Amino acid sequence: MTNIGVFDSGLGGIAVLNELAKKNDANFYYLGDNLRVPYGNRPKEEIKKFAIELVTFLERFDIDFYIIACNTISVTCKDYLIEHFKKKFIAITDMAVEASLEYEGDYLALATKATISSHYIKNKIEAKKDATVYEMAALKLVDLIEEGYLEGPDLDEALREYLYPANDKALENIILGCTHYPLIKDQIQKNLTCQANIIDPAIYLADKLDLRSGEKGVNIFMTKKSAKTERLIDQIMEVDYKLNYLGDIK
Ligand code: DGL
Repeated sequence: MTNIGVFDSGLGGIAVLNELAKKNDANFYYLGDNLRVPYGNRPKEEIKKFAIELVTFLERFDIDFYIIACNTISVTCKDYLIEHFKKKFIAITDMAVEASLEYEGDYLALATKATISSHYIKNKIEAKKDATVYEMAALKLVDLIEEGYLEGPDLDEALREYLYPANDKALENIILGCTHYPLIKDQIQKNLTCQANIIDPAIYLADKLDLRSGEKGVNIFMTKKSAKTERLIDQIMEVDYKLNYLGDIK
């Protein structure tokens, strides 16, 4: 069976893992660094160092290939990880671009500060088609989500601010450029005053992988034990899984 390593700074990648494991048969090994989340506001060198630590931990599971279930890590160091570990890494951000190209009209890319400052999604899409990608660094969303605020007035207030360009210009598409955001997809929908497609790259990737062996295993490792995280993982996952805590990554 195929061993797939999946990693993120925290809970966002769990939503990616869920989509992957629902539709594909493989041994999934997930590592979420909820001890040090968020990564999106950190300097590049620190994000790189953390990413190396995450993959070094997962290497013990004889991984065939990796899915970088974090846009922030993808845009900061995908090539560096490929070079360092000499393995295949599928970046969720590339899936965001591919999935978005299937839609007509203009876009709002919502993502972390690190992802937006790279302009990766904007540049790739605009190079391929005659469309405009507006960008918004949604600084507060990851913290709110990790704290368990998947709805409520604080989230609505933040979303009204971040969705303003889409509502103001009646944009056709919203790109979920951070893997945490599918967890609040309903609230994004609720705060949109225009009809827009909400593009979730994890769904696109899960369909594209298409692995069917009839057997699967899902192992989740988190770096910090927390009842809140445990509840959220349970809420997100629709397939059986084993949850383990690591403390420091070693
Ligand atoms: N979920 C991650 C992403 O897709 C980042 C969240 C964070 O750690 O800031 O960018």
